[in-house]
Amino acid sequence: MAIASINDYRPLAKKRLPKFAFDYLDGGAGTEIGVSRNEQAFEDLMLMPRMLVNVENRDLSTTLFGKKWAMPFATAPIGLGNLMWPRAEETIAKACVEAGIPYTISTPACTSLETIKQIAPNNAWFQLYVGRAEEMVADLVTRAETAGYDTLLVTVDVPIPPRRQRDIRNNFGMPFRWSPGVVWELMKHPLWSIQTLRVGVPRFANMERYSKNTGFMPVARYMSSQVTGRFDWNELKKLRDRWKGKILPKGLLSVEDCVKAKEIGCDGVVVSNHGGRQLGALPPSIDVIGDIRKAVGPEYPLILDSGIRSGEHIVKALASGADFCLIGRAMMYSVAALGLKGPKFTLDMLNTELHQCMGQIGYTDIASLKKAAPIIRKK
Ligand SMILES: Cc1cc2nc3c(=O)[nH]c(=O)nc-3n(C[C@H](O)[C@H](O)[C@H](O)COP(=O)(O)O)c2cc1C
Repeated sequence: MAIASINDYRPLAKKRLPKFAFDYLDGGAGTEIGVSRNEQAFEDLMLMPRMLVNVENRDLSTTLFGKKWAMPFATAPIGLGNLMWPRAEETIAKACVEAGIPYTISTPACTSLETIKQIAPNNAWFQLYVGRAEEMVADLVTRAETAGYDTLLVTVDVPIPPRRQRDIRNNFGMPFRWSPGVVWELMKHPLWSIQTLRVGVPRFANMERYSKNTGFMPVARYMSSQVTGRFDWNELKKLRDRWKGKILPKGLLSVEDCVKAKEIGCDGVVVSNHGGRQLGALPPSIDVIGDIRKAVGPEYPLILDSGIRSGEHIVKALASGADFCLIGRAMMYSVAALGLKGPKFTLDMLNTELHQCMGQIGYTDIASLKKAAPIIRKK
């Protein structure tokens, strides 16, 4: 059967991946209500069309931080991306270059930030986790600077490790634990297992040098020991003053926090609840972006993340106050489902969906869509 939407990938991804890997990708915190609420919040919005507009020529490009991007979204940072398919991260980065959009490499990625910068010299952003070890954070920032990154997303919504029940049940916590169940899953998914073993078990390419012991498990243990509740506004301000490029906290949801980020000199904010992976009780980003936009003014860059599964969702995000979006699972389901063909397929599909949605509601460019904000909230 042909794939007609991002949602069609999910069952295929479930079939292809070992259970622990699929659950790591698909799952959320607690009861996972936050994940479904994120998706539902987009469906609860409607778009008011304006008819009899000539929409023959449409332009999806938009400018963010002085650069023109072909479409108004980037890929979100994903830790352990190569667990979905070997070389997934490199392949997504290449597809983003071809599509003319940014690719964000995560701190706990399997590909080094230096390698990604070579693959995507003008398209790569770096996501930083501020861990307990100050020297590691300082070194990661220096490495990002040396490699030539100009945009840093600092994830601020992981002060405490989340409770993801599927990961706990699967023993896929940090540290990762091998168990008979894990081995059984590998045997049930020989294609994934053979491909993965051929390339080598996924490694934490950015972080392993900071751990005394190498190998997947010791580094995973090291990483979990790095989650710290000490990162605060003072620390973010210090980072702001030290980083010469653009800096955006990722994971703010309240009006007060976004206003504060603007006041301390951050170049924008990623409004996000981490895809419902940190705490199910957090509000969907799409529900809070309108009030944030009113408070920070029309010019301040806001990137919306969490729950996007289609081009229509991106249009709704822009019409609600966002300038740009991030897609997380939407891209990763495709890699899990289709392997290395997935990224291009997804970016083409989102491009088509964006064109169709914009044309249907009578808009030919992103700026006029944002200005008109033709959004209706279901009562
Ligand atoms: C498997 C997986 C791994 C993730 N790893 C990271 C990470 O390393 N750093 C980070 O800031 N966010 C991480 N996130 C969150 C994403 O960047 C993004 O906020 C989230 O996926 C958005 O929600 P969506 O999946 O509904 O699009 C991860 C998300 C997933 C699904």
